[in-house]
Amino acid sequence: MNTTELLSQARAVLRLNDAGEFTKPSPHQYPHQWNWDAAFIALGLSHYDLPRAFTEVRSLLRAQWRDGMVPHIIYHTGKSDYFPPPEFWQTENLAHAGSVASSAITQPPVLATMVWLIHERTPSMDFLREVYRQLVAWHRWLHTARDIDGTGLMCLIHPWESGMDNSPLWAEALDRITPTRASVPPFKRRDTVHVAADERPFAPDYERFVHLIDLGRRLRWEPHALMDQMPFLIQNVLFCSILHRADQDLRQMALELSQDTCEIDGWLARTRAVFDARFWDATRGLYLDYDVRVKMPIRVNACSTFAPLFAGLATPAQAARLVAEHFDNPVEYAPGADSVYRLPSAAKNEPGYSARRYWCGPVWIHINWLIADGLRRYGFHAQADMLMRDSLALIRQSGFREYYDPRDASGCGAVDFCWSAALAIDILNER
Ligand code: DGY
Repeated sequence: MNTTELLSQARAVLRLNDAGEFTKPSPHQYPHQWNWDAAFIALGLSHYDLPRAFTEVRSLLRAQWRDGMVPHIIYHTGKSDYFPPPEFWQTENLAHAGSVASSAITQPPVLATMVWLIHERTPSMDFLREVYRQLVAWHRWLHTARDIDGTGLMCLIHPWESGMDNSPLWAEALDRITPTRASVPPFKRRDTVHVAADERPFAPDYERFVHLIDLGRRLRWEPHALMDQMPFLIQNVLFCSILHRADQDLRQMALELSQDTCEIDGWLARTRAVFDARFWDATRGLYLDYDVRVKMPIRVNACSTFAPLFAGLATPAQAARLVAEHFDNPVEYAPGADSVYRLPSAAKNEPGYSARRYWCGPVWIHINWLIADGLRRYGFHAQADMLMRDSLALIRQSGFREYYDPRDASGCGAVDFCWSAALAIDILNER
């Protein structure tokens, strides 16, 4: 398939999922608006339809909670056959919730970065002015409402907040949680209706996802209570790196709009001061997540370990170790006897690795995109090019799928998946 055909198919996928004011990530599996999906989709749209890209961002921000949180799912069109439905979150009558039906948790804040990238290519001061305050409010919420130890490092209260729902990263933390029949409200999984069960989370994990929602709603999603009582409390390398990069991009916006940068500078300095001590494992040359409840690093090697490159948080020496010892290592992430395409979402030698199961091993286009951006920041252009080449090869072979088997490029998960399409548009245009 040549570039023109690929671009036109990618646009057709975005058109297919266009619900007017927002874009569904995929037609059946995800029939509402998702937070980080919307941001990547806006970037793709901006290459050929800037007003529609702005609409995507506006509809996401319309769901912002009064306390600043931007939720991970927004049910603009009400209920569908997706589980959980809007009422499951029990957000009605919460003073700090928003006015649009939504989930009660958040997702990695790539939005400010996408808005800034769009602005750099196609400046629109009016749009920046329109969204800037809301972005600042969201970042402020992330750095304060979810700060448990004064570091400003945001804590996740649910695996869905990481975007890496069933990563082997969460295995131990989820194992410590024992839901009882009374603590798991009756529910019927819908995610295995449109996607094969062996490409989705295991049943005990899913039960814990639901149990954690139940705990959150019993606490009325009140940030202090959540920090005190949620049994799943994680400082996540991917989330904190994305937030740090987004803070940098928010700062650029502030300068462009002649706004004071003091508060943002504070967030940037605080994160930079604590990031290494919290996450860097000097023995293994890896960034590891931190389990706040047991005060221990999570000793699992997942693709999030490369995310600090995207944020410029690694030193050149740390970046060189990440690349030489892990990215280019055929036992972990590089092609070898057991894989052909980069980048597996968990290291292949992790016990929890599984080539087709959602976040346990498959390749994701947006992760490749983020890590390629980070690699370029440190001068690893050949490695960044490999990620982009592999991303396009996966798409050419199997279409715009949610994720891909690193062994043979076969597609997994949802079909007609929007961020794969949106980022293909970005990659092809930026080239
Ligand atoms: C799902 O339904 O699996 C989603 O990933 C939740 O955000």
